[in-house]
Amino acid sequence: MRIDGTPYRSVWRDAEDGWSVHILDQTRLPWSLEVLRLTTPEAAAHAIRGMQVRGAPLIGAVAAYGLCLALRADSTSAAMERAAAMLGETRPTAVNLRWALERMLTRLRNTAPAERAAAAYDEAGRIADEDAAQCEAIGRHGLPLLREAAARRGGQRVNVLTHCNAGWLATVDWGTALAPIYMAHEQGIDLHVWVDETRPRNQGAALTAWELGKHGVAHTVVADNAGGHLMQHGKVDLAIVGTDRVTRAGDVANKIGTYLKALAARDNGVPFWVALPSSTIDWRIADGVADIPIEERDTAEVTQLTGRTATGALATIQVTAPGSPAANPAFDVTPARLVSGFITERGRCPASEAGLLSLFPERR
Ligand code: MRU
Repeated sequence: MRIDGTPYRSVWRDAEDGWSVHILDQTRLPWSLEVLRLTTPEAAAHAIRGMQVRGAPLIGAVAAYGLCLALRADSTSAAMERAAAMLGETRPTAVNLRWALERMLTRLRNTAPAERAAAAYDEAGRIADEDAAQCEAIGRHGLPLLREAAARRGGQRVNVLTHCNAGWLATVDWGTALAPIYMAHEQGIDLHVWVDETRPRNQGAALTAWELGKHGVAHTVVADNAGGHLMQHGKVDLAIVGTDRVTRAGDVANKIGTYLKALAARDNGVPFWVALPSSTIDWRIADGVADIPIEERDTAEVTQLTGRTATGALATIQVTAPGSPAANPAFDVTPARLVSGFITERGRCPASEAGLLSLFPERR
């Protein structure tokens, strides 16, 4: 996607040295655009844990490149397994991390140590390219939903609500939930996006709003609690969100607060769609509430806020009463029954085991 006219991906291999890896430091957005050069697996792990990169598909791709960096320094089996374990422990909820590392290891365990680094870069490149292509396909398969909503509106502006950031910054390119929105915008469909601010880390206010703004998509940032009210007043035609893990039965883990939006959508008859590449499906589990590990993050994310002051300086302030304890579960699970359907790279399907298997019959 483009930033001020220049095409970017969210992760890429250095074209000159051929081995180091570049990312956009998402902790600096929307205030400044800073490219970071990663040269060690520890730096890649730090980038994932510290949310310099975040979003399920992107952390999978960065972990794959982290393994490349490890193998460049030491291509023995022991070093490879150690690096994969370190990268795999960085964040627990998004299954793409495990998926990408398992895919890398499956190829590399069968590769001679002397050839491992080259094979790793080849596989990581494929993971990144496939993610970009899959997200583009998600855009194509989601586009009819927006076209139909525009037709229902008689050509009037379509309002879409989204939560967290599931745009191109959360993937290698295009995004998941935002891919259909970008395509609809390119095709001239008049649409507007309600952007949930997404406390505590504000991925909506900081990242989704920034992305949409850079692409000229009309949007409005709202407090997380505004969604139900907007839906009651007919101001949301459909909701589209991303996800960090979908179980084979169709339960959806996504950024904390997603479940409440799905409940409000059901109560108000608003379609609630979830967009995902197949790398986000965890075929090993069915019950999302029981079996998806929910990340507990630093409570400072709840008690503090960082932003820009009137002088342009960045400042972090405390927003809670001194001494009040805080808790910070980072994800929740929306049961399949509340999801209107999935938008995947192979098409759309009901949020159920039968629905997923209709698109991915090889998983029967
Ligand atoms: O904690 P984050 O910012 O990594 O959480 C990301 C989300 O919840 C996204 O909406 C999700 O990964 C979908 S990614 C396209």
